[in-house]
Amino acid sequence: MYAPLNINSQQAARKLKVYEFDENNPNDLKRRAVNQSRPMKVIVLGTGMSGIIAGIFFPREIENLDLVIYDKNTDLGGTWFESRYPGIACDVPAHAYQFTFESNTQWSSFWPKGPEINAYLKSVATKYDAIRYMKFGKKCDQAVWNETTGQWSVYMTDLETGMVFVDTCDVLISATGALNKWNWPDIAGLHSFKGKLVHSASWDTTIDVTGKRVALVGGGSSGIQILPQIQPKASEVLHFMRGKTWIPPVSFGAQSLRLQGNNAQTPDDLLEKFKNDPKSYIEFRRKIESDLHSASEVIYKDTEMARTFQKMCEEHMRSKLAKKPEILDALLPDYPVACRRLTPGPGYLEALVQDNVKFIPEGLEVYEDGVITKDGTRHEVDIIITATGYAGYGQPFPLYGQGGTNLQALWDNDVPEAYMSLAPQKMPNYFCFLGPNGGPGLGSTVPFLEAQGKYMIQCIKKLQREWLKSIVIKYDAVKAFGAYVDRFLEPTVYNGNCRVWWRHKGNGRLLAMWPGSALHGMYAWANPRWEDFDYELKEEQGGNRFNWLGNGYVTAQLVGDVAGMTFYLDDDKSFVPVQNPLLAGKSPAPEIAS
Ligand SMILES: Cc1cc2nc3c(=O)[nH]c(=O)nc-3n(C[C@H](O)[C@H](O)[C@H](O)COP(=O)(O)OP(=O)(O)OC[C@H]3O[C@@H](n4cnc5c(N)ncnc54)[C@H](O)[C@@H]3O)c2cc1C
Ligand SMILES: *[C@@H]1O[C@H](CO)[C@@H](O)[C@H](O)[C@H]1NC(C)=O
Repeated sequence: MYAPLNINSQQAARKLKVYEFDENNPNDLKRRAVNQSRPMKVIVLGTGMSGIIAGIFFPREIENLDLVIYDKNTDLGGTWFESRYPGIACDVPAHAYQFTFESNTQWSSFWPKGPEINAYLKSVATKYDAIRYMKFGKKCDQAVWNETTGQWSVYMTDLETGMVFVDTCDVLISATGALNKWNWPDIAGLHSFKGKLVHSASWDTTIDVTGKRVALVGGGSSGIQILPQIQPKASEVLHFMRGKTWIPPVSFGAQSLRLQGNNAQTPDDLLEKFKNDPKSYIEFRRKIESDLHSASEVIYKDTEMARTFQKMCEEHMRSKLAKKPEILDALLPDYPVACRRLTPGPGYLEALVQDNVKFIPEGLEVYEDGVITKDGTRHEVDIIITATGYAGYGQPFPLYGQGGTNLQALWDNDVPEAYMSLAPQKMPNYFCFLGPNGGPGLGSTVPFLEAQGKYMIQCIKKLQREWLKSIVIKYDAVKAFGAYVDRFLEPTVYNGNCRVWWRHKGNGRLLAMWPGSALHGMYAWANPRWEDFDYELKEEQGGNRFNWLGNGYVTAQLVGDVAGMTFYLDDDKSFVPVQNPLLAGKSPAPEIAS
């Protein structure tokens, strides 16, 4: 679908601008060709997967675009750049966690480690030249909508020099990630600890656990990945895990690969085959992705499929924990399987039953030299790892929209919500990736993110085409969408009695899940409901919403571009002659004279 950008065609596009009739009055719409659209500056915040999608898709789809993508980090990758804890890996098959238009046939494993994923992101961003738009080491502190100019003022700090600066744009896109903020857990005495204290979200790669006594706090997605990595090296691991969790069998979702036990490595012969025959890889991708997309009943509570799946996980856990059944009792949840994010965690259950691991299903306190269990016993340790996840959902910096409304305060004090997950109230010309209720519970994440990007592209192009100053979602549309989300999620497993970061602390509302599958979201975003938005015209429209119709021409006519003038003659494979079986043999189609 997307080829690396052809610079020549960009230059050709630029040449067209010569045909603005009045150089002194370039925005006189009556003198413009109808397709000489409004120039537009877009700022994207974040260079993770979402920012990369913007950096690849936007310049290919949007003309007259000035694009800048800022990130506070020193390089791109977001989650996959930042997360460095031992065992960091994706928890869906990588074959279904890559861009639609760039297949990596050589994933070393079903769940490759973080650095391999980050290297992939970097290679794609380089190949498709998204990097050209990216500026690193620049942190956004706040953004303010200017109602007069119809632009965002974006306040930035250059982290290297400490200098602050303001950039402005017509459209602001948030790609700052849902899981980019973390806090120390609330554990008494935690910071009195004199040994090494580290959080999974902010790992210190100099840490070596070899021969050390380690306390690992938390058994969510990251704790599950960390334990099997540190257990063989550490002399002792005290694994504090207050919550319960489901661990699915490794082969779950991996039916298409011939996995052996815990070994999720891609077999050599498959790697060779995929390399030599990319078509066979696409077929393989289809299989993996369709595995992920199907099985939809699992997301509803008390369905046959949810029960079968739960039983499968329970049996798996029972057999792996046979040596220490007391762990099973403590770990086995009473909530439905997919209520929390499922992490396959190859090797986690096996590590739990090793002699040097003590599973402690309770909270703890910390003193200078170690940890204190609930019974008051002190245990000396050298290292404490808190794998307690990320800060809850929220807007990471103040964002002042219409009438000075601060989205950060709105989301902190009330409930984070956004129309179709990407357009929050009172924030004109602003869209967010992975916004509230903007993550797929079922199906593949990347095409889903790409579809969010395409929706934004449609909105930006509409602003350009029709010379609009602003587009902003109607309040009642935000509320109606929110009500729909609540109703949809009510009977799903996400609404089980589990503790998750994506439940609102105040009213318990579910904040992460899109109300449907990934494919469902892609369908729903394909055609924006323009009637749900309010618009303002740009001054150039002179008060008439139709002035953008311009001088009666398209640019191809003005430059004598033959192909452009006859674009409708492009090969269209969708039209093929049909034989009407009812007429077969009766009246032959008339010959077309050549
Ligand atoms: C440990 C971990 C494992 C995961 N595993 C999976 C998985 O297996 N499958 C899956 O589908 N999803 C997974 N996820 C979710 C994952 O975050 C998303 O799939 C995806 O990577 C999100 O990309 P993003 O670009 O939206 O956000 P991020 O990758 O979080 O990137 C956000 C970027 O914004 C930048 N930023 C934030 N605030 C500012 C600011 N104020 N100014 C400038 N820049 C800023 C950050 O520096 C960062 O680079 C995982 C998440 C984590 C944390
Ligand atoms: C909006 O922009 C105008 C014109 O540049 C400027 O005079 C005004 O101070 C700005 N308003 C705000 C709130 O920044």
